[in-house]
Amino acid sequence: EKNGYDHFMLKEIYEQPEAIKDTYRGRLRINDGIIKMAGVEDNLEKFLNAKRIIIVACGTSWHAGLVAEYIFEELVRVPVEVEYASEFRYRNPIVGPGDVVIAISQSGETADTLAAIKLSKEKGAFVFGVCNVVGSTISRETHAGAYTHAGPEIGVASTKAFTTQITVLTLIALKLAKSTGKITNSEFHNYLAEMEVIPNKVEETLKSDEHVAAIADIYKDAGNCLYLGRGYNFPVALEGALKLKEISYIHAEGYPAAEMKHGPIALIDEQMPVIVIATKKGHYEKVVSNVQEIKSRKGKIIAVVTKGDKDVSALADHVIEVPETDELLTPLLTTIPLQLLSYHIAVMRGCNVDQPRNLAKSVTVE
Ligand code: F6R
Repeated sequence: EKNGYDHFMLKEIYEQPEAIKDTYRGRLRINDGIIKMAGVEDNLEKFLNAKRIIIVACGTSWHAGLVAEYIFEELVRVPVEVEYASEFRYRNPIVGPGDVVIAISQSGETADTLAAIKLSKEKGAFVFGVCNVVGSTISRETHAGAYTHAGPEIGVASTKAFTTQITVLTLIALKLAKSTGKITNSEFHNYLAEMEVIPNKVEETLKSDEHVAAIADIYKDAGNCLYLGRGYNFPVALEGALKLKEISYIHAEGYPAAEMKHGPIALIDEQMPVIVIATKKGHYEKVVSNVQEIKSRKGKIIAVVTKGDKDVSALADHVIEVPETDELLTPLLTTIPLQLLSYHIAVMRGCNVDQPRNLAKSVTVE
């Protein structure tokens, strides 16, 4: 059932082009110029009147929530807060009627996320679920929702769940932006067209696999690793670091690139691999200067860049290219090489990729 792949994780990484298609199938209707999502349409007033959106989740799903924060604020111009479900539920949160809470969970069974949902409902908020597992507890406990339709995710490290969560959340944001007139029809159409071709671009990005494996071979014995990104790709840096930690047991941290000079830069020496996401736009020039700072401290730079990139590539020790796309959709591409990097490093270190130590696929205890 691994379909010829050595591990479920690798199979699931490779399934992403199809999984993303499955996520937008029937929803993204380019010819009609609409996004069809019953759970959103049936509650459109609640979304449009929301004073703010609160996203609750854990782990990788929380990272998808952070990406969504950037996307919602940009497209819908509504304030968004992203909360660890475990923190939110225990601090007497200010939440109530007029708030829209979006709970994100692959398994739909995460105890803290479920508790955050129950609390939000008690306090009168409208709660929308983004789950992968159909019929899961969270999908039943929420007022409405949208499934990711990514298919079963067996590997403990979440991969296709993450990219499909981002896909669903982007569709919701686009739909709301269109409904409120926050984006023009032509902008809307351009986003739809770009979203439609993202699976092809993910496919193309997957071709970097061998190149990424060669990079993994160089850094597999690292003791630490730093991941940097800005804007939409800051949460991707967090997610890249989490993937490496959980399956290879190498200590890794993700940071917004500009925060480096406020502390983590002290860690940089010739032993430290730094993975920098430096796609075009997204304050590219700022990232170039961050990369220069790493270079001058002899850090080893692995850069994820837009195809044809020159400036960062000239400074980096290793370059991984992703196809060009709209800035807002770059996380769907930049995530891929980071998943592959963690995967190969973990395999080379002899780790149990699909069942890392101390971790369970769904965390049903708090
Ligand atoms: C990381 C990972 C975990 C989950 C987290 C939330 O690869 O798998 O961090 O993302 O436990 O799980 P769900 O999304 O099922 O609520």
